[in-house]
Amino acid sequence: MSAPAGPKFNGTMKAIVFDRIGSPLDVLRLRDVPAPSAGPGQVLVQVRSASINPGDFLFIQSLYPDPKKPRLPQIAGQHGAGTIVAAGDGVSLAPGSLVAFSYQNVWAEHTVVPVEWLIPLPAEYPLEKAGQFMNLITAWDLLEEAKVAPGQWLALTAGNSTVATMVAQMARRRGIHVVSIVRRTQPEVDLKDFGASAVIDLSEQRDPIGEQLAELTRGQGLSAIIDPVGGPLVGDLVRALAWAGRLVIYGGYGNDRFALHNFDILMKDVRIGAYVYRYFFDPPKKSDSTVLEAITELAQSPDFRVRVGGTHPLEDFERAVRESWERPEQGKRFFVAEGGYR
Ligand SMILES: NC(=O)c1ccc[n+]([C@@H]2O[C@H](COP(=O)([O-])OP(=O)(O)OC[C@H]3O[C@@H](n4cnc5c(N)ncnc54)[C@H](OP(=O)(O)O)[C@@H]3O)[C@@H](O)[C@H]2O)c1
Repeated sequence: MSAPAGPKFNGTMKAIVFDRIGSPLDVLRLRDVPAPSAGPGQVLVQVRSASINPGDFLFIQSLYPDPKKPRLPQIAGQHGAGTIVAAGDGVSLAPGSLVAFSYQNVWAEHTVVPVEWLIPLPAEYPLEKAGQFMNLITAWDLLEEAKVAPGQWLALTAGNSTVATMVAQMARRRGIHVVSIVRRTQPEVDLKDFGASAVIDLSEQRDPIGEQLAELTRGQGLSAIIDPVGGPLVGDLVRALAWAGRLVIYGGYGNDRFALHNFDILMKDVRIGAYVYRYFFDPPKKSDSTVLEAITELAQSPDFRVRVGGTHPLEDFERAVRESWERPEQGKRFFVAEGGYR
């Protein structure tokens, strides 16, 4: 296979690199690195949209379990989308195809991805969705794990987060009532436009949350909680579950723990489980194509909204990372190819 065409391609490319473990605010650097090339069964992709996610920060801090550990010096970024510019032997996807992927070395002008990790997308797919396809899959899976029926209530903590707003929109399409719980309301965002039936703002002093939820659900209780925060609130939410309710844990933002009595679980047959991204360790299987197509189609609609905090060239990485780290509630940020989304 040959090197990608283009006037700027001279054997090197720009990438966001770290060569020690630490806070993303301290260790990331913009570097010229050797441009990769695709071997058999791989593609070379021009990265057009690479999302900045809490998981990317965990990886840079080496907080993921083995074998998801950085190999220094390491190009950061794990989730993105782009155009195939060259394909190695044995690859049937044609150059020019738009693909999404969760792999490694993504915050760069180009990246190499084994073909089995690619999720092909329609050519005109919105890049703010393609570049974080992992979050769409996560939202879909979380809702499946929660096993909530139409007419039942689902509670989402970190309600302003990207994943929560995606889950809420998917839930609304299934006739599920969502209560989004936020630390504070974002004045410019009405979560009811993002699938929520109700919002509880924890910064407003009101009745105990159990009482608020009993009133909201008219005594029905919550059928599930999807939580990336933890802390005492989760204990209170579990106590607000209905019979056979579920708690699905998918993150750990908070530093605090929650406490439960065995009877809080036993007397309601509560199920507590974790969700780990389905392609965290292994690539998509051929049998996943139906569900991936369903997610692709559902999220493609302009009615399915994602909040974009900003798009950044790689050169602007310090601002992009700092804003994502300190003010994630502004919306998801993306590294984009020169010229922005085209
Ligand atoms: N398990 C998996 O496979 C998987 C996959 C994808 C994502 N995740 C996890 O999902 C979570 C959300 O990711 P995302 O990309 O949607 O996030 P995001 O868009 O960056 O949004 C993060 C939101 O979380 C809230 N938040 C931050 N720190 C918090 C804290 N200490 N307590 C309460 N809320 C806090 C903030 O909302 P407010 O400031 O408005 O409260 C913020 O809007 C992360 O924990 C991520 O690691 C897990």
